[in-house]
Amino acid sequence: MIKPLKSGCLSSATLPIAPDRPWLAPLAGYSDLPFRLLCRFWGASVACTEMVSAKGLFYSTANTLQLLKTSEADSPLVVQIYGSDVPTVKKAMDRLLDLGFGYFDLNCGCAVKKVIKTGSGAALLKNPGLLLDMASAMVEKAGTGRVGVKMRSGWNSHTPVYLELAEPLARIGAGWIALHPRTAVQLFTGRASWQDLKKLKEFSKIPVIASGDLFTAEDALKCIEQTGVDSVMFARGALMDPAIAGRYMNLLQGMNDLPRNKEFLQQLCLQAVEIYRRHSHSSRTVLRLRSLLPRMLRGMPGARELRKKIIACKNWDEMTDVLMTMTDAEETP
Ligand SMILES: Cc1cc2nc3c(=O)[nH]c(=O)nc-3n(C[C@H](O)[C@H](O)[C@H](O)COP(=O)(O)O)c2cc1C
Repeated sequence: MIKPLKSGCLSSATLPIAPDRPWLAPLAGYSDLPFRLLCRFWGASVACTEMVSAKGLFYSTANTLQLLKTSEADSPLVVQIYGSDVPTVKKAMDRLLDLGFGYFDLNCGCAVKKVIKTGSGAALLKNPGLLLDMASAMVEKAGTGRVGVKMRSGWNSHTPVYLELAEPLARIGAGWIALHPRTAVQLFTGRASWQDLKKLKEFSKIPVIASGDLFTAEDALKCIEQTGVDSVMFARGALMDPAIAGRYMNLLQGMNDLPRNKEFLQQLCLQAVEIYRRHSHSSRTVLRLRSLLPRMLRGMPGARELRKKIIACKNWDEMTDVLMTMTDAEETP
C-alpha cells in the first residue's frame, strides 16, 4: 500500500496559505469529493470544490447539491461559486452557511461560453465594480478572511484589472487572491505570465496564490521562487498526477521524490478506484474516473491501449481488472 504523507496543518480558524501548504484548485468535472480525498492523501493542504452555480444553490438542484458532497476528512474545504448578481449570491451564501461550509471563493476566471454569456466567471473582469460588490456581499455573510477571489489577469491584454482589484479586495476583507495569469480571451493558450503573479504579490496586502502552468512539482517551486507568492494551487498538474502535492512537498523539504515507475502509477490508479468506489453515488462516478485515469496514465508505455480498455469499463470491477493487467501492458510508446 502507498505510504501516506503527513497531513497539512488543519486550522479551523484560518486557512493555511503558505509555500508548504499547497492547494488543490477548483476543477469543474473533476474536483469532487473522491478526487479531493485522493489529492489530500498525497499532501494537498486545502481543496476547492468545482465551481457551483449560485442560482443552482438558490434552487437547491440535485446536481448542485451533489457537487457539495463532503466528509470530515475533506477539510479545510473552499466552496467556489459563480454568479452574476448580488442578490442571488447573497441567497446562495445563506444556503451554504446553513449547510455548514466556512470558506468560499468567487469564480472570476472561468471563460467557457456557457458561463460568461450569463455574466458570470471571467465576464466579471469586464465589470470590476460588480465583482467587488459580489465579493463584498460574500464577505459580509461569511466574515473577514473567509472569502477569496480566483481570477484571470483581465478580460483581454488591454484590460489587466488584477492589480487594480488588489487594494479594494483587501479593503473589503477578502482572505486571498488566486491568480491564473492569463486573460479570459487567451483561454489556455500561450503561457501563464508569472511576471503578473510577481507584480500582484508585490502590490497585494492579502495572500496571493499562484495558478497557471504548474504541471510539475518543479514548476511550483520555481514559481514560488520567481514570484514570491504565498502558495500554489495545482490544477492540470493534479489531474495528470494526483500525488503532485506530495512530490512538491518532498522537493521543498529536500527529500527524495516519490517513485515515478509503473508500479507506483498502478497503485495510485487502484487507490483512485478504491476511493471513488467508496464515494460512488451513480454510474457518473465511473464516467469521471474513466476520464481521469487516462490523464494519469498519459506518457506511460502502453497507455494508449490501456486508455481504450479503461473507457470501455462499465463498472469498478472491470476497471480494477484492467488496472491489474497494467504491469503486463504492452511496452508501446
Ligand atoms: C478541467 C478544468 C476545469 C477547471 N474548472 C475550474 C473551476 O471550476 N473554477 C476555476 O476557478 N477554475 C477552473 N479551472 C482553472 C484551474 O483551476 C486553473 O486555474 C487553470 O487550469 C490554470 O492552472 P494550470 O495551468 O496549472 O492547470 C479549470 C481548469 C481545468 C483544466
